[in-house]
Amino acid sequence: MDANESRKLSLMLVLFFQVLAVTLPGCFLVASQQLPIKKPALQTLAAKGHGFSSSLVFPVTGNVYPLGYFSVSLSIGNPPKPFTLDIDTGSDLTWVQCDAPCTGCTVPKGQLYKPAKSSIVPCKDPLCAVINGGPPCKNPNEQCDFKIQYADSGSVIGVLVRDYFPLRFINGTLPRPNLTFGCAYDIDHGQHNPPPTTGVLGLGKSAASISSQLGAAGLTQNVIGQCYSAKGGGFLFIGNDPVPSSGVSWVPMLQNTMAKHYASGPADLLFGGKPTGLKGLNVIFDSGSSFTYFNSAVYEAILNLLSKDLNGKPIRQVQDPALPVCWKGAKPFKVLSDVKSYFKPFTLSFTSTKNAQLQLTLENYLIISEHGNACLGILNGAEAGLGNYNLVGDISMLDKLVIYDNERKQIGWTSANCNRIPKS
Ligand SMILES: *[C@@H]1O[C@H](CO)[C@@H](O)[C@H](O)[C@H]1NC(C)=O
Ligand SMILES: *[C@@H]1O[C@H](CO)[C@@H](O)[C@H](O)[C@H]1NC(C)=O
Repeated sequence: MDANESRKLSLMLVLFFQVLAVTLPGCFLVASQQLPIKKPALQTLAAKGHGFSSSLVFPVTGNVYPLGYFSVSLSIGNPPKPFTLDIDTGSDLTWVQCDAPCTGCTVPKGQLYKPAKSSIVPCKDPLCAVINGGPPCKNPNEQCDFKIQYADSGSVIGVLVRDYFPLRFINGTLPRPNLTFGCAYDIDHGQHNPPPTTGVLGLGKSAASISSQLGAAGLTQNVIGQCYSAKGGGFLFIGNDPVPSSGVSWVPMLQNTMAKHYASGPADLLFGGKPTGLKGLNVIFDSGSSFTYFNSAVYEAILNLLSKDLNGKPIRQVQDPALPVCWKGAKPFKVLSDVKSYFKPFTLSFTSTKNAQLQLTLENYLIISEHGNACLGILNGAEAGLGNYNLVGDISMLDKLVIYDNERKQIGWTSANCNRIPKS
């Protein structure tokens, strides 16, 4: 694999491990001359006061392959400064690269977030404990530092700040809520090359996520919709207005040990519409992951199903730097429809709800690599450090509107034209 190819591989693998982001308790001090501690001013989130709420719609850029991420542009501060953020329903804290100064930041100094004294969030802020899994400091007036450890060995250390987010709601109002996020001054990219974004948009379930903060302030309902096109791009929304009133398959969010994640199940896996014997799978929906991951046993079973089914067809397995498992035909493939006659769809059939089936058509589990091979976009989660988790990544959500409804504790999807952005 040449240097250029390995760079591309790294880019694709950057974001997905964030599903397992764990925050480690502990205070990481910033030199006080850089980030002086502000006098305490405990800010509690505005209570959900009134029945009105609106929604936000953002255009999304990116693709599963070759880029490996989807991002939105958000402005922060006064005067507002734009930041490009990877969208991640698999982690909670939104963070941006920080001029504190910074180790491991990847964008020019002028594009970093420069925290003002007044924006530093003190340790006694309730969100500081949420982010750190408990009260992290002896002194409640200290700045609140955080560390997020990603399962792929990457990590981010920063300080919690609070600043204006100038927004545009679809009802026409232009609110400017103060939201809490991370100013990341020490970024370790692990074994992967950094993506060209300036941070992460955390849309997870905890009170610290941007969607939870907007919900707690009574500005939007805590509902997230993502629609990524197989052609690239798409849209993201926060709020309930763009949710279709019919045609959505809804399944309950799991409230057990997987309650930290957007998880549902149990589901049976079908191949070509037929049972595979793979039953009772719990899956996490994670927009921070480009590809889909199954635990080792399920992954091996899927490889067996595919190799049995491809037996006798004019296609053979080949090494390709794009992904671990690829197939080559007589001629290089150009588009997925070139392999339509070789591959059958998978289906995740949720047994909790009648007719709740997540169809994985070819575009939802295969890519055509730059070398013209068809490659499997389903990976072994154990090899990726995900343990026994099954994780539905972006590839399996393409051309679907996927809705994470924290108000009604359910996850929904429907097929959609994701290039048609709801008017905002
Ligand atoms: C739009 O929604 C916001 C946030 O929920 C609300 O405060 C505002 O009153 C609404 N504006 C109009 C014109 O309906
Ligand atoms: C919002 O954040 C800014 C920047 O941190 C701060 O100066 C301001 O006092 C905050 N305003 C409110 C209403 O909390």
